[in-house]
Amino acid sequence: MTATEVVMRRNPVRRRDPLTAFGQGPAATLGQRRVHLHWANLFGVVSFACLLVLAATGVVLMFTYVPSGDLVTYDGPHEPLAGARVSKAFDSTMEISFEQAGGMLIRQTHHWAGLVLPAAMILQLLALFFTGGFRRPRRAGWVLLTLAFLTVLVAGWSGYALPDDMLSGTGLRIVEGVMLGIPVVGTWLASWTFGGRFPGEVVENLYPVHVVVTPALIAVLLLARARLAYVRGSARPAAAARSPHATLGMRLWPDAALRAAGLSAITAAVLVLLGATSTISPIGSYGPTAAGDVGAGSQPDWYMGFLDGALRLVPAGWEAEWFGWTWTFAVLVPLLVVGGYFLLVVVHPFVADWVTGDTVEHHVLDRPRNVPARTGLGVAGMVFYGVLWAAGGADILATAFGLTVESVITVLQVALVTGPPLSFEATRRICVGLRRRDREIARHGYATGRIVRLASGEYVEVRRPVPGPELARLEVPGGAPATRGEALRSRDPRPQRPARTSPDS
Ligand code: HEM
Repeated sequence: MTATEVVMRRNPVRRRDPLTAFGQGPAATLGQRRVHLHWANLFGVVSFACLLVLAATGVVLMFTYVPSGDLVTYDGPHEPLAGARVSKAFDSTMEISFEQAGGMLIRQTHHWAGLVLPAAMILQLLALFFTGGFRRPRRAGWVLLTLAFLTVLVAGWSGYALPDDMLSGTGLRIVEGVMLGIPVVGTWLASWTFGGRFPGEVVENLYPVHVVVTPALIAVLLLARARLAYVRGSARPAAAARSPHATLGMRLWPDAALRAAGLSAITAAVLVLLGATSTISPIGSYGPTAAGDVGAGSQPDWYMGFLDGALRLVPAGWEAEWFGWTWTFAVLVPLLVVGGYFLLVVVHPFVADWVTGDTVEHHVLDRPRNVPARTGLGVAGMVFYGVLWAAGGADILATAFGLTVESVITVLQVALVTGPPLSFEATRRICVGLRRRDREIARHGYATGRIVRLASGEYVEVRRPVPGPELARLEVPGGAPATRGEALRSRDPRPQRPARTSPDS
């Protein structure tokens, strides 16, 4: 906690850290605005570029794609499917891929952007979490970004279903099963989504969700977040907290905007390169969907793997008959666990403030090691998500390592329960150790390995003093003692022995 924050905590009237007031008031003109540079800003720019690429390529796809499950006979150039009965959706996606000039490039670039976007957003959320960038007054920004991420998952899933190939059909079949497993509303939900018996009119129903509803929602959420960020100003990285030069940040317009535009152009170029060189979703090889068939090794796009994994980790036979309904816990438990997980992620800033009694505005980002409990919690959350995700590919893991699927599932079930608490404690301890080492270096300088003998006969190691900007990074402003020993030492009234610095300095 900074000295300002200590004063504010004693007098819990919410007010701004005066250090952030530079050029950030609502009245500041665009030219006066400044932003702090942090490497994690990169993820926000990459997400923005992915959205632009998705919108541009998506609009081009709309010209040829036909959102219809009506059957036609395939008569395109892809020989293996000649004469097959396929849906118009599949047929038009084949036409985009094999007959339209540049169609395959556009489709694959669209799909690659859809894969990179959730990854960039997850990294953006993680960077915000570990640096405490979600704290007051940016709590609403965190909520908006998390909701935008969840909407992106729905957008990706609905897009994945549109080609109506064997892979997307398998995914949809699983979703139908999950919906039917929800008591009371499940049947209604499934018939509303699928418009009758599988596959029904699912392509027709998902199309507007994919091209209008989710893109509009993502845009609204991210614009609201951008507005909040504009009004509140950017938080300052820990290193810049006490460096007058870094405190200035960069002019939002035109400097930071031009940098972001350059990075967006690079991102778009990489996505096009991926689309041109790396096969993704080869629907010609998968073939059209068939309600009774499933391709071996079918996998969802990576960002939906955790849901699939949650379903696979439930022990077999979890079912009961209560109040005249069948309660399929094999479906309900994963839904509740995953829903609860994301609910906790969304409300985390509010829960954290409530638990710690924090009423202060924070404008300086933390170094993750300086907040061991939060960092431990973040790693525990990642391990939980990671285990669910790995379970989504349990069959692939079993094949790759020559194991039985059952043994992989058992290992992952144990990991799901024990992994988060163990990783929490291990991370917390590592952070405490790193913080102790930082303080040691800040207080006594870097070890040089040179031992000198003093006139008194005592041997001491020569220490190299820490340069100013580095010192600002290492010192924890007003942070609590990292260990019990440190707490005792800080209470010791005896003067500390001054650090011995290099004779050269
Ligand atoms: C303005 C926004 C968007 C428009 C107009 C759009 C349009 C389309 C259209 C027409 C298709 C069907 C053609 C095809 O399957 O090749 C499609 C497929 C797809 N979309 Fe989008 N989309 C948009 C945004 C998104 C977003 C935000 C994501 C993901 C986060 C996404 C992911 C996908 C995926 C994975 C496919 C399947 C591609 C494939 O065939 O392999 N789209 N999109």
